[in-house]
Amino acid sequence: AAIIARVNEILAAHQGMEGSLLPILHAIQEAFGYVPQAALPIIAQDLSLTKAEVHGVMSFYHDFRENPAGRHVLKLCRAEACQSMGADDLAAHAQNKLGIEWHETTKDGAVTLEPVFCLGLCACAPAAMVDGRLVGRVDAARFDALLEEVR
Ligand code: FES
Repeated sequence: AAIIARVNEILAAHQGMEGSLLPILHAIQEAFGYVPQAALPIIAQDLSLTKAEVHGVMSFYHDFRENPAGRHVLKLCRAEACQSMGADDLAAHAQNKLGIEWHETTKDGAVTLEPVFCLGLCACAPAAMVDGRLVGRVDAARFDALLEEVR
């Protein structure tokens, strides 16, 4: 119920605004740290969209979380410059090491792994972001060291 009340407040604050879906989703993620499933039908109804449309927009933009994040959020760049510098291998290493896929959180709730599309650090590819901090030239060893730091 608390979720619904807060979602309604956010919707009210964006009333009549054009193209309000993205700002609304951002505000909701800001408020809860993710976009709760329960919010989707309320948003859909308010904006006269279907739930599928709202969900489609959410998954198109990789910024939105469907579940609460772990204590640490690790983002790995998946865009071109990083790909050409081994981002795929790094991603495979990270998933293997953590035992999770993209958008999942380790069982102990410590780390959430998320893809991101260019962190503006292409010159230091492959790039990562650890709890909002940018890190460049991340190879498997560097990744393991970063994990040690946050764990
Ligand atoms: Fe990875 Fe730009 S492509 S930081």
